[in-house]
Amino acid sequence: MNIRTEIKEIESLIIDWRRDFHQYPELSFEEHRTSALIGDELRSMGLEPRMNVGKTGVTADLKFGDGPVIGLRADMDALPIQETSGLDFMSKHDGVMHACGHDGHMAMLLGTAKALTQKENSYKGTIRFIFQPAEEGQGGARYMIKDGCLDGVNEIYGIHVWNYQPVGEVGVKDGPVLAAADMFKIKIKGKGGHGAAPQGTVDSIVVASHLVQALQTIVSRNTNPLESTVVTIGKINGGHNFNIIAEEVTLSGTARAYTEENRTLIKTRMADIIDGVAKTYNAEILFDYEDGYPPTINHSEPAARVLKAAEEVVGEKAGMPYLSMGGEDFSYYLQKIPGCFFFVGSAPNKQKLFETPHHCSHFTMDEQALLVGPSIYLNLVDNILGN
Ligand code: NI
Repeated sequence: MNIRTEIKEIESLIIDWRRDFHQYPELSFEEHRTSALIGDELRSMGLEPRMNVGKTGVTADLKFGDGPVIGLRADMDALPIQETSGLDFMSKHDGVMHACGHDGHMAMLLGTAKALTQKENSYKGTIRFIFQPAEEGQGGARYMIKDGCLDGVNEIYGIHVWNYQPVGEVGVKDGPVLAAADMFKIKIKGKGGHGAAPQGTVDSIVVASHLVQALQTIVSRNTNPLESTVVTIGKINGGHNFNIIAEEVTLSGTARAYTEENRTLIKTRMADIIDGVAKTYNAEILFDYEDGYPPTINHSEPAARVLKAAEEVVGEKAGMPYLSMGGEDFSYYLQKIPGCFFFVGSAPNKQKLFETPHHCSHFTMDEQALLVGPSIYLNLVDNILGN
């Protein structure tokens, strides 16, 4: 690997930042200590950070004269998980943990800022460092955009560490890389009664059973098999006792798709199936579908630029076509301006790639990944803003 020397020189600083963030994780829109620390660090580099962007976000511009403006984004929030990793820099906040690697994202972006602020005036353009709160479900990106974080920005880039691949691999792909992540709730209203006298009742559990099966046919029978989609019912609630016919059952789940067309198809088919099942069983069914993050769709030219910058670091191990049905609110930026979201392999154990998945209580990463990301960023900045 060709880790940039500017980054090697500050390796311990980057790792210290990550471990500090890791010990003091904060939930979405509560990143107060986190943003204060980021602000202090950026000021110590000679930058003038803008605080409280998108509630608890921070941005800072590094200007090198006239030229394009490149946005580099890191997310800041942690998850409501009790850490069990056993690391000596475990979370000191009960029930809160950086279990997705956002601590690493912030450390990588600070490292990039540190390296770039030490450079002579050798670029034509501006780098905007964007520290965004609330990626985990609340769509902090939208608040950042509303507060002007993209104003004047020509292109935006973002990294996610990726524990399903080893250090030394980088996932870069043109087009969709993460899915739309929608939620839905279904409430079946039947008519309860005695378990031994079903006549005259509407058994919500029978309706729910049919519905779960029928909804699975959307992915298997309605969507194009060459285009990935998912419909998952993750929760069912209903019933009181073994001898009572349940009056009400609620179900909730998630739908995933890489395109708006498939997203609409799933939504429409769900409504039709629910309608049909309600008629079949004479039940009333309420359907509430909530759009989550849109699909994350990379733009061609920025993706090609990342690929080149990544190849300069990891050679042919760049451009692995990683795809996931997970969701990311980086998608909101990509709806506004061109950009690319890419994945930096960070699996702590090369032999057991799925042993420490994201969002698990023993999540940890190979911290060498934290040198790969900033090296790619430096190459990217060299290639775009270099003379
Ligand atoms: Ni994440």
